[in-house]
Amino acid sequence: MQSIQKGILQAIPSHAIYLTFHLRPEADAGTAMDALSAILPLVDGARVVLGLGASLVQLVGGGVPGLHDFNGVAGSMVKLPAAPAALWCWCREEQRGELVHQARRLRHAVADAFDLQQTIDAFKVGSGRDLTGYEDGTENPEDAAAIAAAFVQGQGDGLNGSSFVAVQQWQHGFEQFEAMPQAQQDNLIGRRKSDNEELEDAPESAHVKRTAQENFNPEAFVLRRSMPWSEHEHAGLHFVAFGKSFYAFEAQLRRMSGAEDGIVDALFSFSQPLTGAYFWCPPMKDGRLDLRLLRA
Ligand code: HEM
Repeated sequence: MQSIQKGILQAIPSHAIYLTFHLRPEADAGTAMDALSAILPLVDGARVVLGLGASLVQLVGGGVPGLHDFNGVAGSMVKLPAAPAALWCWCREEQRGELVHQARRLRHAVADAFDLQQTIDAFKVGSGRDLTGYEDGTENPEDAAAIAAAFVQGQGDGLNGSSFVAVQQWQHGFEQFEAMPQAQQDNLIGRRKSDNEELEDAPESAHVKRTAQENFNPEAFVLRRSMPWSEHEHAGLHFVAFGKSFYAFEAQLRRMSGAEDGIVDALFSFSQPLTGAYFWCPPMKDGRLDLRLLRA
């Protein structure tokens, strides 16, 4: 398989910053490509994972089959805001201090063509829990199954080894959540917080019942690399799912949204997405991002 951005496969780091950028109004194909060239030395695919938005690929005249903007879900019974961006950087570190410099260098490198849209500070909680205390990532595919779920294969050089990522910043209402008795919280997720056991008799609205990956046709596996985030008094989960296409995420979100059977995922009773965006994470070649699909 062609080289991948290794950070996608690795366990989540202790600290992270997610940066999104939009194109400056005066940016053209030339300035955008120059800015991309300027950040290439900073993107090793491990400490910095990079994703490109549909608007950027279109501007430079490239072609990435399957890449498009996130547009919510037709028939959704809940709000699914879209916040498209041209560029997405996931900076991953064990030391918080290093992130400050990484983010600064990235912002500086692309400044001629891109304006900063959002910075999100994220962190690992315990062994990888959501801020509600529930273990997150238990049913993630592993090893060969993770590679099969998250990376394009058999589609040719430039596309093989790449990944399509869906991101959503969810804000939790902790007061609402904490007002629920433990059994109700467990039923909402579909797992017991105390021992992470799946509840066979959980209601249809339980999050893990809505998203059970083998219960879609075809099966809908993704590699989730979500991290808790906080900013002043607000906090939640920065949901991140890598796939070989957007199919699996879209199938899961459609079922969560109630568009399929009128049952909305119980997560929405205490948490809401504030953003939603799609990006394409190019493969690597010789230690650098392989951007051949961007050349018209
Ligand atoms: C507030 C946002 C969210 C929270 C707190 C959350 C939390 C969790 C937790 C605690 C689990 C159970 C353990 C595990 O297998 O990881 C889980 C499972 C899962 N979640 Fe989420 N999640 C959120 C949003 C989403 C979204 C937006 C999607 C996809 C559209 C999603 C897809 C999944 C999938 C695929 C599973 C595994 C289901 C299975 O195959 O058993 N989650 N989530």
